[in-house]
Amino acid sequence: ADLAGFIRGLPKAELHLHIEGSLEPEQMFEFARRNRVDLSYKSVEEIRAAYEFSRLQDFLDIYYAGAQVLLTEADFRDLALAYFRRAHADGVVHAEIFFDPQTHTDRGVPFATVADGLLAGMAAAERDFGMTSKLILCFLRHLDEDAAFATLKDAEPYLDRIEAVGLDSSEVGHPPSKFARVFAAAAAQGLKRVAHAGEEGPPAYVHEALDLLQVDRIDHGNRALEDPALVERLVASNMTLTVCPLSNHKLCVTPDLRAHPLKRMLALGLRATVNSDDPAYFGGYVGANYTALIEPIGLTRDDVLTLARNSFTGSFLPQDAIDKHL
Ligand code: HPA
Ligand code: ZN
Repeated sequence: ADLAGFIRGLPKAELHLHIEGSLEPEQMFEFARRNRVDLSYKSVEEIRAAYEFSRLQDFLDIYYAGAQVLLTEADFRDLALAYFRRAHADGVVHAEIFFDPQTHTDRGVPFATVADGLLAGMAAAERDFGMTSKLILCFLRHLDEDAAFATLKDAEPYLDRIEAVGLDSSEVGHPPSKFARVFAAAAAQGLKRVAHAGEEGPPAYVHEALDLLQVDRIDHGNRALEDPALVERLVASNMTLTVCPLSNHKLCVTPDLRAHPLKRMLALGLRATVNSDDPAYFGGYVGANYTALIEPIGLTRDDVLTLARNSFTGSFLPQDAIDKHL
């Protein structure tokens, strides 16, 4: 009867979440105050009012500015724990979270401060909420290959606690090919690979992510639908797409949610999942990303069951843990 209640109660995994994108305005003020960082905003309302985006770059400019308040290990731990608390309330039992080390190391925050803080938050979430989680290191694609290699080097002491590398930030003009060598190096170190592709970029970028980065998942992938041969390839390889409905709406990838492709993806046999991307900026956590589609595209209980199943089969959990969740 109550589909929103059913969604909340159904165990789910989240596979596309930028931890810096879970920084709520209230917390931004709190961290700015305790770290004595100057915020250009005067109030929480003023911050929220600035969250009007017409494309990815509009958001990224504000997202990188917001992250400047994060300085200490405690900040990263508190940020992560606040995310896990909200995700837990939405029925998320497992989360694979992205972080952008370059956003922090480039302003003098050591890699270890970021990683230790996030890992502490992950441990607390397991203890307090019984949630499992994994960490995915994202390279910023607007920066160069050397910077990505330097970041992989920074990560070396942590490679046993990092599951995968990813690729995010400004997509158009920064194709996956730019990072083929650093992804190969990450693969040689035993890391899994994911990449944002086909959010604003063309289907060719999705092909490149598959061919040149050997990815295990595609983040977003919306524009793959423009290329029937690509769709066929994604279906045949059981490739997981981490789709983010409220992000798509807010960044005008899908300005009208009635045109959102999620149901079409499922009908085509694509392994689509529902995720929140940057929940503090796009208006909601995982639960809200499911419920936002109920009315616009007629998401059903069966769709929700498929999506939740896909979130586990598409995860990097070991097979026995996946089986327990299905
Ligand atoms: N796309 C690209 N980069 C990002 C995103 C996104 O949706 N969120 C945070 N960094
Ligand atoms: Zn993203």
